[in-house]
Amino acid sequence: MFFPENELTNYLSKISTTFEVNTAEAGLLFAAIELDLFDSFSKDPLTLEQLAKKVDVKKERLLPLLNGLCIMGLLIKDEGFSFPEEYFPFLKKGGRFYIGKALLRFKWTIENLSNLSKIIKGEVEVKGHDVHDEISTAFYLDFVREFNKPYIKIMASRLEEYFRNAKTLLDIGGGHGLYTQKALKEHPHLEGTLLDLPHAIDYAQNLHADKDYFSRLHLLKGDSREVKIEKKYDVITVNDLLHYFTEDEKKDLLKKALGALNEGGVLAITKFSFNEDLTPESSVFFSIKNFLLTGSGYLCTDESLEKIIEELGVKIIKEKLDQNKTLYLLS
Ligand SMILES: C[S@@+](CC[C@H](N)C(=O)[O-])C[C@H]1O[C@@H](n2cnc3c(N)ncnc32)[C@H](O)[C@@H]1O
Repeated sequence: MFFPENELTNYLSKISTTFEVNTAEAGLLFAAIELDLFDSFSKDPLTLEQLAKKVDVKKERLLPLLNGLCIMGLLIKDEGFSFPEEYFPFLKKGGRFYIGKALLRFKWTIENLSNLSKIIKGEVEVKGHDVHDEISTAFYLDFVREFNKPYIKIMASRLEEYFRNAKTLLDIGGGHGLYTQKALKEHPHLEGTLLDLPHAIDYAQNLHADKDYFSRLHLLKGDSREVKIEKKYDVITVNDLLHYFTEDEKKDLLKKALGALNEGGVLAITKFSFNEDLTPESSVFFSIKNFLLTGSGYLCTDESLEKIIEELGVKIIKEKLDQNKTLYLLS
């Protein structure tokens, strides 16, 4: 029998095979990190034999990896193999900007994707969901704070009318703290509190400790799903946090945040826009990515968040900040 070649079968075979190229590069990188290969190098080149001895594997097994790393530009082949010195701080353990361990986070994505059917059935737990170590957190928050720069500006001006009369702000899952920073800088009467997981709070502490508004920035370590919010606040913000949570967790957190508002206060929530017609497409994959990261959380559609909020019986204002972000103001 000949296999029928048509648009569908071409598409299916393309998506089942083209991932190999990038995945192979990722696999080589992860293998090199796990074998401590980069740690074997100092300034001088090493022969295949020397490298094989250092990482304690057979040379003919190591060679394909070394060749691949050369093609990727991570090693140089010239009278043996060498590792560019400018990469040492990033890929040698103990280097100032060592990211090897953080990069291995992404290895779990491959494993999790391969296990997706079992994860959906609940037979296999996702890998890596519980890792919030210092390096991974810093790596991640560096990216998020850069990505959200435009929204920090937009939100500061959108919430201006609330900050003008507010004395206190709570930023749940505030991470880098730059939303709060902007509010504190523009409103000298405001006290801000960041609530986040321990390593994110350490990251924020490093970022803000020497700034003049730091005496008005209060840092709270904890899982927002578990901590009891002791005080009341005039403004509470929840930016890009709910996509980590299940439907019940989203609802419980919003209930808790509403319960922590002072009379006349406002709860501002931003999320990546995601519509029932599956636009924007990037949100479909972002939602899957978060499911794979947490094992249970996901980016919900704007419509389904609205349903949750309606059940809470509060007044909602919905606004699109741009194509990709939606803001909800609850009071
Ligand atoms: C995508 S970042 C958003 C940071 C910031 N709010 C922003 O919008 O730029 C998500 C933040 O939520 C924090 N986070 C994740 N799960 C959390 C939890 N269970 N409790 C508190 N914070 C959490 C992460 O540590 C991270 O700082």
